[in-house]
Amino acid sequence: MSLRFALVGCGRIAKRHAELLGHRQVAGAELVSVCDVVEEKARRTAGPFGVPHYTDLHAMAACEHIDVFVVLTESGSHARDVLALAPYGRHIVVEKPMALTLDDADEMIRSCDAHGIKLFVVKQNRFNVPVVKLREALEAGRFGKLVLGTVRVRWCRTQQYYDQDNWRGTWALDGGVLANQASHHVDLLEWMMGDVESVFAKGMTALARIEAEDTAVVLLSFRSGALGVIEATTAARPRDLEGSISLLGERGTVEIGGFAVNEMRTWQFANALPGDGEVMGRYSVNPPNVYGFGHLAYYEHVVECITSDRRQLVDGLEGRKSLELISAIYESIETGREVPLRFKPRLCRLGQISARGETR
Ligand SMILES: NC(=O)c1ccc[n+]([C@@H]2O[C@H](COP(=O)([O-])OP(=O)(O)OC[C@H]3O[C@@H](n4cnc5c(N)ncnc54)[C@H](O)[C@@H]3O)[C@@H](O)[C@H]2O)c1
Repeated sequence: MSLRFALVGCGRIAKRHAELLGHRQVAGAELVSVCDVVEEKARRTAGPFGVPHYTDLHAMAACEHIDVFVVLTESGSHARDVLALAPYGRHIVVEKPMALTLDDADEMIRSCDAHGIKLFVVKQNRFNVPVVKLREALEAGRFGKLVLGTVRVRWCRTQQYYDQDNWRGTWALDGGVLANQASHHVDLLEWMMGDVESVFAKGMTALARIEAEDTAVVLLSFRSGALGVIEATTAARPRDLEGSISLLGERGTVEIGGFAVNEMRTWQFANALPGDGEVMGRYSVNPPNVYGFGHLAYYEHVVECITSDRRQLVDGLEGRKSLELISAIYESIETGREVPLRFKPRLCRLGQISARGETR
């Protein structure tokens, strides 16, 4: 028996989800229906897979037998849609970032818990094969004391990209490069380096005409005493250059690059183990686009967690953790000060209604 998945939101990323589920590439999962408020988008997404399409998520929930909803709407609408769906008592997968405010994230976690369902936040880069290999080395203690962790996102998003939908780059529904494109990398850095003690950041809107930042740099102090750096931009021209992470410890260094944290660049440990020599050859595959290969492994994990009732790697609490870090970074950009974690956002504009009047 396959788990029956339904998509809510049929935009750009829905294509990836629909292809994986609709072509039965994920063992134990199938696509049963899709929904978008724009009927043409719903019809186009449903078409190749011969599944019904809807323009209202409640109508879809009422008519179809669904085990898992997949929320692929604009980032600032995730909370609204998850809260609307949770009472149906079906598990929910939500694209990153899970929400734009910590209050929304808290409500989503509370509601999913109250309805006894699992909430999965899509962080597919955690499942990239070189990233899994790095995590294994970290868990085996091969780095010794961690010294420095760095992530870099140097991607190209032109004005045309931002102009294709009016939510992109707005404070109310998206945020800038930190909340959108780099949210994967911020998540990876914190997952690898551990809890963050404080952040100091600067951001600017360098090339795109959007409300939020297209370029930012961040210094981090981790509770372990290690330091970190985030460099994030969508103003790389003329094309995507890099999505990378490096970890430096007293006994080893690992660097994963490529566009989408998918290509092992350095694998060096003071105490070499059998198999170390093959790592560079086996884990250096750059994917054809920045989304990477991770969505397939991510869905396999979703199926495993539901069928075996296991805890999800990125549940609501874990998704909230990186949202808290991103909010602290925005707070630092607004205040010009170092921001300690935990903190209560005061000036962070992410998720707030803007002067341009976008509503949530
Ligand atoms: N994991 C990744 O690598 C990755 C990559 C791209 C996008 N994303 C995330 O996916 C989300 C969507 O991004 P996108 O680029 O596909 O956006 P998009 O604007 O192309 O698609 C969003 C779709 O949701 C629809 N929608 C809005 N409200 C709806 C509702 N109530 N019911 C049904 N449909 C509704 C819109 O009409 C639109 O078609 C964002 O949160 C983004 O951050 C993640």
